[in-house]
Amino acid sequence: MFRYKTVISLCFVWQVSWCVDHNFPPNFKFGAATSSYQIEGGWDADGKGVNVWDKVVHSNPEMFCGNATGDIAADSYHKWREDVRIAAELGLQFYRFSINWVRILPTGFSNEINKAGVKYYSDLIDALLAEGIEPIVTLYHWELPAIIQDLGGWTNPLIVDWFGDYARVVYSLYADRVNTWITINEVIVICDYGYYSGIFAPNIKEPLLAPYLCNKHTMLAHAKAYRIYDTEFRPKYNGRVSIANHLIWIEPHSAKDEELATLGREYMVGRFTHAIFSKNGGWPPSIEKMMLKNSLAQGFNSFRVLAFTDEEREFVKGTADFFAMNQYTTYTIRPAKKGEVTEYVFLKALPDLNAVLEPPPHAHYGESKMMPIYPEGIRRQMVWLKKQYGDIDILITENGYSSTGQLDDYDRIDFLKKYLEQILMAIKVDKVNVVGYTVWSLIDNFEWLQGYTSKFGLYEVDFENPDKKRTPRASAHFYACVIKNRSLNDTCLNYDFGYKV
Ligand code: BGC
Repeated sequence: MFRYKTVISLCFVWQVSWCVDHNFPPNFKFGAATSSYQIEGGWDADGKGVNVWDKVVHSNPEMFCGNATGDIAADSYHKWREDVRIAAELGLQFYRFSINWVRILPTGFSNEINKAGVKYYSDLIDALLAEGIEPIVTLYHWELPAIIQDLGGWTNPLIVDWFGDYARVVYSLYADRVNTWITINEVIVICDYGYYSGIFAPNIKEPLLAPYLCNKHTMLAHAKAYRIYDTEFRPKYNGRVSIANHLIWIEPHSAKDEELATLGREYMVGRFTHAIFSKNGGWPPSIEKMMLKNSLAQGFNSFRVLAFTDEEREFVKGTADFFAMNQYTTYTIRPAKKGEVTEYVFLKALPDLNAVLEPPPHAHYGESKMMPIYPEGIRRQMVWLKKQYGDIDILITENGYSSTGQLDDYDRIDFLKKYLEQILMAIKVDKVNVVGYTVWSLIDNFEWLQGYTSKFGLYEVDFENPDKKRTPRASAHFYACVIKNRSLNDTCLNYDFGYKV
């Protein structure tokens, strides 16, 4: 009796994962994801237009490890049947992929529709449905039409309507078969990497105005696409729409940094979610206050970040049917020391907060050293979201591990197991409504600046081979087993590919 009580109270205090049962709830779905530029190739095939990534890989090859391009990538433009077969072999309940804007609209605008592009995605969707796999479609995973970038890209307010036109075309083609839509993938990468530090396409390095213009226009463009679905398509198809943000969980470096961590969370997450999910909409008030103070100190006459008008606030507020979250990593935050450089590159610092980011003390890096691994972060992030925005359904639209490529990828299995355990804790202990989990990625792909050196795939792709052969890694067997059993119990951990806990 005493022992039993001790175990119960230890469970309460430590909240360790063996305290919860390891079965996933019946409504929980498993999937995997990819994005068009990263896997498709066929960069100039069959009437496709040019996007900002096509442009930058050709004009600045030295930016990419091994001068890699996505010109051929995993050749999914031709090998999509193989991808569907793999998804079925894994037992996925859904497959999240994205549409390359200029494959459908080669001019970037809705004046011209490319039949071959339309057929490509239509065939893919049909094949998935034939296997009983739900297609989850992202409208925009960073492939901005080059011409729209020439016109200012995400800093030009007209993009809101152009994105709306694109969304309407895509819905009208596929909403009869696609029920779950993600409008935009990861505003933080689009705006902060693309327009602030300029390390990603379109490589604009203008930290004062550009990222915040981009930030606001992505919110409006998302809302436009949401409202078009809502009024023109929902009555007939009754699907659901959201936006997927990359959520980096922020922990205080020490107890005295708690307030800074709160501000850090609003900066890293609230900037892309408050307008949509909060009761009042617009920018998070703490960010608005900080940016006004910074603007005046920098010699501007007023707020250098565009404010939301009342009308815009109302337009954006409430435009999501669920919360879509990509979560990989956690950082700690502390104030910058005197003279410490705070450049916003690769998450080393946040200059607007005069703060420095560092990996949490017990985090480790995967083999390819991309992001600190900190499974508890995903749970804390979701508890925070619930507190901020209420009991909304959360779909984890990306989470994954980067390796250097071996087939017996036990580190990835360990990563998946630990993150899934934290997700179970969030569901069972914290009562967060997590409705699904997506592994990034189904197959190895073009990992942006890292080219083909960083491997996220459950399946290896042999990029040297013109056939781009796909081979399952140990983690693919593990994930298939978890999906089949709907549980993280020992069956899958002791699977006979040799892995033991
Ligand atoms: C992006 C993917 C990327 C992955 C790993 C995510 O933030 O959506 O495109 O490959 O991270 O870096």
